[in-house]
Amino acid sequence: EEVEYNIICQKHKLLLQTLTKGNGWRVQHLYNYKGFWLNPNTVKNNLLLHTYFKSLPTDIVLAAFMKSGTTWLKALMFSTLNRHRYNFSDHHLHNHGPQSTFPFLDCESYPITDFTNIPISPRLFATHYSYTLLPACIKSGKIVYVCRDPKDVLISKWHFMSKLRSKDLPPLSLDVAFELFCQGESEYGPFWEHILSYWRASLESPEKILFLKYEEMKKQPEVVVRKLAAFMGKPFAEEEEEKGVVGDIVKLCSFENLSNLEVNNKGVEKFGSLVEVEKRDFFRKGEIGDWKNYLNEEMKERIDRITDDKFKGSGLSL
Ligand code: A3P
Repeated sequence: EEVEYNIICQKHKLLLQTLTKGNGWRVQHLYNYKGFWLNPNTVKNNLLLHTYFKSLPTDIVLAAFMKSGTTWLKALMFSTLNRHRYNFSDHHLHNHGPQSTFPFLDCESYPITDFTNIPISPRLFATHYSYTLLPACIKSGKIVYVCRDPKDVLISKWHFMSKLRSKDLPPLSLDVAFELFCQGESEYGPFWEHILSYWRASLESPEKILFLKYEEMKKQPEVVVRKLAAFMGKPFAEEEEEKGVVGDIVKLCSFENLSNLEVNNKGVEKFGSLVEVEKRDFFRKGEIGDWKNYLNEEMKERIDRITDDKFKGSGLSL
């Protein structure tokens, strides 16, 4: 196994020399790997994921472009699926942040992490990789995808990445971030191609991919939670509906509740050996339309035009 691992590391080094380089938001360079911009470490972990990850037919993967609602959906999927295991007054989420509820495939320590040890079925995993970068075994299972208005994603991502950005690099101005985002150059981007990769797959196999929008989650969280439960194979029983379990889940996972918990305000979350994120940075505003405080009319129109162009004929709008 060690030999195989070393071969992949060698392959990764050589691969980076052949890929087109772009500007990173957190680190200096991104690399264009099969049409998507990744930092060097996530390129490596994609190779490792393809080699070592063994899926089970029951697995459910949460996929999203970063800053589209991953943390929120993680909490919702976990608490919906495990609603019989915890009381809402003394819930696992009160003492553990949503990040720790299930593994993030892009930064795991392959092949050391032993996913076969996860005792609960279905197993849940999260990823930011585009659909096209997932191994076939994941594509044969169920996927929940969430997307969000690109203008809010841009602002959320700019704030988040500015905090994580290497101190050796000059700060990333919003103007530069805006330009890079529009050109598709940002971690896991292009944003629009990321969404389209899952959207097209969801049209082909709607029973395998549940396609959600952050905005619809904000507007009708209970509707989304019911959809989620049914999709994950655990629809709410009449009795649960009467007891108001759906509302309990929505409340537990709300921005107000999660962002005020001590566990989400203290300490750091580690992603692999390279990235540490202050837990509180996963919760900023949690609103629709905060972009209005940052983007002028011209910037708004430019992003909207790109969205219209890219999504034309796809049946998708944001
Ligand atoms: P803002 O920066 O606009 O506030 P991700 O989890 O994919 O990294 O996305 C982060 C975004 O989701 C941030 O958006 C964050 O504040 C918001 N968010 C986190 N938890 C949330 C919740 N429970 N409800 C709604 N939004 C939430």
